[in-house]
Amino acid sequence: MRIAGSISEEPIKPFLEVKGKNVLSGHVKVSGAKNSALVLMAASLLSKESIHLSNVPELTDIEVMSELLTSTGADIRRTGNQLQISNKSLSITNTFLPYELVHALRASFVCIGPLLARLGAVKIPLPGGCQIGSRPVDEHIQGLKELGAYVKFENDYVFAKTKSPDKRLIGKEINLRCKSVGATETILMAATLAKGSTIINGAAQEPEIQDLANLLNKMGAKINGAGTNQITIKGVNSLKGCKHEVIPDRIEAGTFLIASAITRCPLSISPLVQSHLKSVISKLEECGCSITKEGDGVKVIPPKTIKAVNITTSPFPGFPTDLQAPFMALMSTAEGTSIIRETVFEKRMQHVGELNKMGGKIDLCQNKAVINGVAELRATYVAGGDLRSSAAMVLASLNAKGTSKIQGLDHLDRGYENFEQKLNDLGANISRKEALNEKKIINQIKESVPKHNFYSRAEVA
Ligand code: EPZ
Repeated sequence: MRIAGSISEEPIKPFLEVKGKNVLSGHVKVSGAKNSALVLMAASLLSKESIHLSNVPELTDIEVMSELLTSTGADIRRTGNQLQISNKSLSITNTFLPYELVHALRASFVCIGPLLARLGAVKIPLPGGCQIGSRPVDEHIQGLKELGAYVKFENDYVFAKTKSPDKRLIGKEINLRCKSVGATETILMAATLAKGSTIINGAAQEPEIQDLANLLNKMGAKINGAGTNQITIKGVNSLKGCKHEVIPDRIEAGTFLIASAITRCPLSISPLVQSHLKSVISKLEECGCSITKEGDGVKVIPPKTIKAVNITTSPFPGFPTDLQAPFMALMSTAEGTSIIRETVFEKRMQHVGELNKMGGKIDLCQNKAVINGVAELRATYVAGGDLRSSAAMVLASLNAKGTSKIQGLDHLDRGYENFEQKLNDLGANISRKEALNEKKIINQIKESVPKHNFYSRAEVA
C-alpha cells in the first residue's frame, strides 16, 4: 500500500532505491544455481552418508530448504557457500515436513521422491499455487503411482507409501504428459532406489536435471540420458555420500547478460556454461549484442540501439520462462515492436503493468504481450510480484532517468545472491531501504496537515 500524494510516497515495505542511468563496467561473478542446489539438497535424503555441496548460493530459499531437511532430522553444517548434509538419522518416525515450510518453498515438494524411496512412506503438505500459476503436482503423483506407490490425499496433505512388502518402489516405463522439471526430478530420485529399471519418457531436459543426475551417479546411482527427453535408471539397493559442486546459475547469468544490454554497457560475466544459455545468447545477438567467449564466461558488448525481437518461452532448450520478465524489460527500451509469448506458466505477466507505469508501451492479451519500445523508461515506484519480475524491475530502473523505488525484496532475496551489491560493484547506485514504520508515516501526515485546517487532528491520525 502506498500513501499517495505529497505527504509520503515512501513505500511501507523494505525497498531498493535505484538511481538510473549510471554507466556500468567490469566483471560480475555468477553464483551457484538456486534451482540446482535445492534439488541436490533434497537428493541428500537418499543416503545415510554425508553429502558435501560447494558453490551453494546464500539465499532465503536455501535457508528454508535447510530448515526443512533439519525438520526430518538432518544434520546440516554451512560454511559460506559450502553445505555438509547428513541424513543418517532419517527415520519414518521423525520425518515431519512442516506445512508452513513446504508452502514457503514449493520446490521442497520434490522431497516426496527421496523420502518415499528411502523410508517406504511419507506424508507431505501439498505446495499449492503461487503468483505465477496453479503449480499442480499431478505429474509427480502419477509418476510415483507408476513406480508402485499407494497415494492418497488427506486435506492439504499427500500420503504415499510403497505397496511391496520390502517397502521398495518398482521400476517401470513412465510417460510424462507434460515437460515438468519438478516431476522429472521427483521420479528420477525415487527411481534410483527402486527394484529394476525405470524409463522416463518426456523428461525435462534442463541443465539442473543433468546436475542432479551427475550428483546421483556420484552417489552410486545408474542413470543415463539426463538432459535428453528419455532418462533410464537402473535401481540400486543404496546410495553413498559424495562431494559435488553446484553448476553456475544460468538464470542469474542471463539476468546480467540482459543488464548489460538494457544499460548499453559492456560487461564480463562468468562463470557460465554457454550451452545452458544458447537460446538467450542467440536472442541477444539478434538484438544486436556481440557476445564472445572470455575465459569461463562471456563478454557482452551491446549496441547503442537495441533491436526489437520476438520470443516465445518454452522448456529447455527453448527460451527460459525465468528470463521472460527481464527480457521484456529490455524490449521495453528497444527500437521497434516485439511480441513476447509465455507458454510455460499461466500467470507470469505481472510485470507488464509495472513496466507500463515506467513509461513502457505494452499491450497484453492473455499470455501474449506486444511491446512498442520507447527511448528510455521513467523512474517511479514499482513492485515485483515474483522472483523474476522483481529482477526485471531492477533492470528497468537501471535504464530509467531518475530514482526508482522497488518493492518485492522478499521475492528478490529468494533467488539472487547479493544482487544489488553485484550491480553496485559494476557502478550502479542502488541502496536498500528499510520500510518506513507506520508511526513515522502517521507523524508525517500530521505534520503536513496545515495547523488552521478544519479537520481535527484525530480525523487525520
Ligand atoms: C522449475 O519449477 C523451476 N523451479 C522454476 O523456476 C522454472 O520456472 C520451472 O521449473 C520451469 O523451468 C525450481 O526448479 C525450484 P515445472 P517447477 O514443473 O518444477 C506444469 C524460478 O523463478 N505442471 O517444470 O515447478 C506447471 O503448471 C522458478 O526460479 C503440471 O501441469 O516447474 C507448469 O505450467 C519459477 N503438473 C509447467 O508444468 C505437474 O505435476 C512447468 O512446470 C508439474 C508441473
